[in-house]
Amino acid sequence: MSRNSAQWHAKPNLPETHYVDSSIYTSEEFFREEQEKIFNKVWIIACHESEVPNAYDYRTFQHPGGENLIIVRGDDQKVRAFYNICPHRGNTILYDPSGNAKNMTCIFHSWSFDTKGNCVDITRGTEGYQNRIDKQDVCLREVKCDTGYGGFIWVNVDDESMSLKEYIGDALGLLDECIQPEMEVFHYHKAIVNTNYKLWHDTNSEFYHDFLHYFNRITGMIQPGYYDRKYEGYKYGHASVGSMEVQYDKYAGSQKRGVGWPGLGPGGWILIDLFPGMTYNLRTSVLRLDTAIPLGANKVAIEFRGLGLKSDTPEQRAERIRDHNTIWGPFGRNLHEDLLAVHGQGIAMREGTDSKWVIQGREESSTIHDEVGMRHFYAEWSRRMGRKASAPQEQGKIEAA
Ligand code: FES
Ligand SMILES: [Fe+2]
Repeated sequence: MSRNSAQWHAKPNLPETHYVDSSIYTSEEFFREEQEKIFNKVWIIACHESEVPNAYDYRTFQHPGGENLIIVRGDDQKVRAFYNICPHRGNTILYDPSGNAKNMTCIFHSWSFDTKGNCVDITRGTEGYQNRIDKQDVCLREVKCDTGYGGFIWVNVDDESMSLKEYIGDALGLLDECIQPEMEVFHYHKAIVNTNYKLWHDTNSEFYHDFLHYFNRITGMIQPGYYDRKYEGYKYGHASVGSMEVQYDKYAGSQKRGVGWPGLGPGGWILIDLFPGMTYNLRTSVLRLDTAIPLGANKVAIEFRGLGLKSDTPEQRAERIRDHNTIWGPFGRNLHEDLLAVHGQGIAMREGTDSKWVIQGREESSTIHDEVGMRHFYAEWSRRMGRKASAPQEQGKIEAA
């Protein structure tokens, strides 16, 4: 039997924590509110220290709150972050995604800034401003920046925010030992998908969709230990999934992994989701790090990084790259399947369309197919937004779950 319009629109017969209203994925108004209440308040990974290894190396970063940022290493080796906005008349200072610059000079009227954010030159300054403008009053706007948890460079545009340490709490505890050695980014790519950033984070927060991945079904789902993996939720919406041993040799054409990772058992796999859109995914020989950067309610740029150990021999590195690309590279076995699925969600759930309820109702004792990870995320989302994800049109104070 199919459903008519009234039945299609009826709320699911589940607790209101077990489904969400699809408008939280499609409304541009909610998205602007998320920028203000979520992205401009929390710590976000901008890049990895190995991407700016030397003094004066920089990268630009599109912050999900809307501002473009400069991440730059000074000659004191400290990494700092600034708005990529010239204090003169608001021009973009750096256009290239990465480079090396002792001073950063705005193309418009050639004001220059050093890597500590000081204004070091105002062209024809005295002639035009006499002594009415001091260079000190036109420095760059600095953004809080910290390095940690595997050498990642984190930023927070809220000057009053809590520390990174407090924000992460115990959430990365399962990876404690694994992220001690120095690491290096060996792979970067970005996918821009017409879908909501939360739908990407959802795929990283539930394993029920292993049905999507033939590789995961063969090497994981039908192997011992798979259903023992447990979700654990942490403060501020973070969640982890415990380890299992992936049986790579069960997939034709694949082989057992020769290179492992310090602190991780053979074939081990640990995944940790950080609110609101970052995922540490350590699978046997490679750490994959996803950062979801929303560009609108229905557009997200997902940055993918693959990392190995800085101490790798050329042979070890080659194997890590091969392992990474086999599963997670743009032409690998799994990643495009996930992208296809969330792109499909982006097509089906558009503002004003009829697809109303998204169900996150599986309960399996917090094991791998339980959707408790997503529910944990939406409890935090609701708290920060002051809107229940299942009834977002109403506003009010919502306590932490
Ligand atoms: S806007 Fe940058 S120097 Fe004028
Ligand atoms: Fe997936």
